Amino acid sequence: MPADFRAQLPALANKTYFNYGGQGPLPTSSLEAITACWRTIQELGPFTGAVWPFIAQTTGRLRQHLARWFGVGPHRIAFTENVTSGCVLPLWGLPWQAGDELLISDCEHPGVVAACRELARREGLLLATLPVADLRGTPSDTDAQVLQRLEEQLTPATRLVVLSHLLWNTGQVMPIAAVAAALVGHGRHPWLLVDGAQSLGSIPVADAAAAADIYACTGHKWCCGPEGLGAVALSERMLQESQPTLIGWRSLSHEGNSQSEFHGDSRRFEVATSCVPLYAGLEQSLLLLDAEGTAEQRLDRIQRRSSKLWQGLQALSAATPLLEVPPPAGLVSFQLGDERPEAVVERLGQRDIWLRSLDNPHCLRACTHISTRDDEIDQLLAALANS
Ligand SMILES: Cc1ncc(COP(=O)(O)O)c(C=O)c1O
Repeated sequence: MPADFRAQLPALANKTYFNYGGQGPLPTSSLEAITACWRTIQELGPFTGAVWPFIAQTTGRLRQHLARWFGVGPHRIAFTENVTSGCVLPLWGLPWQAGDELLISDCEHPGVVAACRELARREGLLLATLPVADLRGTPSDTDAQVLQRLEEQLTPATRLVVLSHLLWNTGQVMPIAAVAAALVGHGRHPWLLVDGAQSLGSIPVADAAAAADIYACTGHKWCCGPEGLGAVALSERMLQESQPTLIGWRSLSHEGNSQSEFHGDSRRFEVATSCVPLYAGLEQSLLLLDAEGTAEQRLDRIQRRSSKLWQGLQALSAATPLLEVPPPAGLVSFQLGDERPEAVVERLGQRDIWLRSLDNPHCLRACTHISTRDDEIDQLLAALANS
């Protein structure tokens, strides 16, 4: 790994960090880009004719950049505050009919599931479960099982499938493009909502993002951007069929006129004032990741580290990785003997080694990124062996 990326992360200078899936560390130059942008906004404005072109340039550049990463046109990208709002805002605007069924995987994040449950309550929709949590084998077996189970669970009433790209608990990658292709031929062609919280910045997303109807991400996890800024890629049919629910001046094609139409593109799901300096910070983090190689090359490096950790865990008598094979990405979940995961997190935290516990399945999760060093993995394994 080129030394410069890690050297840009002050958060890693004084701790051993495995919580990239919770929040990525912010590079120094991203923090500087945020401050510089903030200063320029003050020098030009803040609310003057001079500042608007600068703001349009800053947000436009990031929209173009994310569009390249997502493999879609910039008109399909909406900025959000986080993953969850990227999932929920377009979802709630779809034309639901009582009796429509939402097929939700059993590995979705509690916030997204809660939003689906409330939507179902309000609109009289049915909920069904797509089981994927027990898939612990090879990528090809996992892909085949997901597609088979999808076929089994789809009914004529299925109107939406909710499936994360990289499962936040087991660490398996879902075959999103193949799922999207399978849905085309089914009944009323169910919409596909993909939670990309763990995927953007850790695995290549372009095929999946281009195939999904809603592909929601955040900048603050694997992209190592600032918290408070995310993005969602929307399909062309989503732009036709979903009406915004949370509405503000940024949703309108003529922002000063309340009679105006909504934007025809994804901006219809943007709302109102947001923190523009964060856009400059995320753009800088994406540039730093670009400089480390393509998404495929970066995944290769992430995977080499997660494999090392997975193999080390296999060798520990007390540890049991959730996956039967080396992880396809950077999420390594495991159980450790009889010790409660929360107690392990606390014990290791006292030594400044940071990982997290998960409720379902009840386990520990350590993430490896391109900035993870071999000696950090050794340190974690040694600390776990001392339980
Ligand atoms: C899979 C998944 N979805 C959603 C979220 C929530 O993210 P945000 O706070 O950006 O909405 C997380 C955060 O950990 C996550 O892992």
